[in-house]
Amino acid sequence: MAVTVLKGTIVSAPALGQVDITENGYLVAEDGVIAGVFSALPERYAAAPVEDFGDALILQSFADLHLHAPQYPMLGTGMDLPLLDWLNTYTFPMEARFADTDYARSIYRELARELISGGTTRVCMFSSLHTDATLVLMEELEKAGVTGYVGKVNMDRNAAPGVLEETTEESISETLRWLESCGDFKYVKPILTPRFTPSCTDEVMAFLGDLAAKRNLPVQSHLSENDKEIEWVRALHPDCTQYWETYAKFGLWNDRTLMAHCVWSDARERAAMRDAGVTVVHCADSNVNVCSGTAPIRTMLNEGLNVALGSDIAGGDHLNLFDVVTSSIRASKIRYMEDGKQTPFLTVPEGWYLATSAGAAFFGEQPGFAPGNPLHAMVLADDALPPMPAADRFERCIYRRQKDAVRAVWSAGRKVWGTK
Ligand code: GUN
Ligand code: FE
Repeated sequence: MAVTVLKGTIVSAPALGQVDITENGYLVAEDGVIAGVFSALPERYAAAPVEDFGDALILQSFADLHLHAPQYPMLGTGMDLPLLDWLNTYTFPMEARFADTDYARSIYRELARELISGGTTRVCMFSSLHTDATLVLMEELEKAGVTGYVGKVNMDRNAAPGVLEETTEESISETLRWLESCGDFKYVKPILTPRFTPSCTDEVMAFLGDLAAKRNLPVQSHLSENDKEIEWVRALHPDCTQYWETYAKFGLWNDRTLMAHCVWSDARERAAMRDAGVTVVHCADSNVNVCSGTAPIRTMLNEGLNVALGSDIAGGDHLNLFDVVTSSIRASKIRYMEDGKQTPFLTVPEGWYLATSAGAAFFGEQPGFAPGNPLHAMVLADDALPPMPAADRFERCIYRRQKDAVRAVWSAGRKVWGTK
C-alpha cells in the first residue's frame, strides 16, 4: 500500500461556513484515498515518508463546475456586449476555430496546465460542438491530472450558419461517436451538454434525455441567465410556464444535472431545483461581464439548494478559483446592499466551501478532507507575506497570494504539480 503523508497547516471545510484548521498537522492518504487529518502521526504510519511543508497551508483543491474550454483564447476580451450579442459576435466565431484539432491541442494543453497550477483539479466543462477537439480536450486534461466531466456541445439550431453549426442528424450521430470514443479515459468522463434551450431542437433535447436515462449520464446546461435569453425561451416554448420546464419535459432535470447561472430563477423555479436535486452553478464574474445580474445565492442556500461555483470563462474573466471566490462574495454583498440588507451576504468560509466541498459533492465526495475521499489538495506558501495567525492566513490567501504561491497539487491521489 502506498501511503502519502503531507505535513503543514491543514485547512478543511467540513460544512457550509465551517473551517477546521490543524496546525503542524498530518494529512494522510492510503493508495490516494484520504485516511484522515491528524495532529500527531499515528503509529501505523511511522515508516511512511513525510512531505514536510513547514507551516505552509494545505488546502482542498478546487472544483470548477462551469467553464467553456474553447473560449480560453478569448479570455479577458469581448466584455462590451450583453449575453446574446456576445455569443454571436465573439463566442461562436471563437469556438468555430476548434474544427482544427492541432489548434485545439495547443490551446487545451495550456488550459489544463493553468488549471492544475492554480489548484483546480475537478471540472465540469463545455467543449465545442466538435467531437474530435472534445476528445483532444479530454486527453489533455487527463494527461495534466485534471479530473471530472467534459461535454461535446449540442447546438443544432440558432447557431452560426456556415461558421459553427450542426444539423440535427449530425448532433445525434456525433454525440454517439463521441461517447463510443470516451471509454478509455480514467479520470475524465462524458457529460451530456445541450448548450441551452435556444440552441437545441426538441428532437435533440428528447434524444439527450433518453440517452441520459439509458446510459446513466449527467447533464449540464444554462438556465435563466439573462433577460433577453429568458424572453427567447418563452417564445420558443409557449407550452412551458418557466425556463426549467424546457429541460424537465425532456428528462434533463434530476440530481445529476448542473444548471449554470440561475440569476433570475424565482421561488417556483428554485423549488423545482431543490426538489429534483439539481445543482446551481453560480458564475459571479460572468453574470456581471455579460450584463446578466446578481444571482440570489444566499437565498438559494437558505432554501436548501445545491450551489457550487464556476469560473465560466470566458464570460467570466478569472480562471483562478481563488478569484472566483472573492467575486462570489462581492456579488453577494452587492445583492445584500441592494436588497435592503435583509439576507446576509456570503462569508469567506462559505465562499470557500462552495468552491471546494460543494463542487466536490457533485463527484460523490464528502465535505472537507473526509476519510474515503480521493486526495484532492494543494500546498500554498505565504512565507513572503507578513506573519499572522492561521485563521487570518486562510482568509488572506483567498484575497492575496504571493508569486507562485501554489507549490504542489494532488489530484485523485496523484501528485500532479510541484516537485516529485
Ligand atoms: N449561454 C449559452 N452559451 C453560453 C456561453 O457560452 N456562455 C454563457 N455565459 N452563457 C451561455
Ligand atoms: Fe457558460
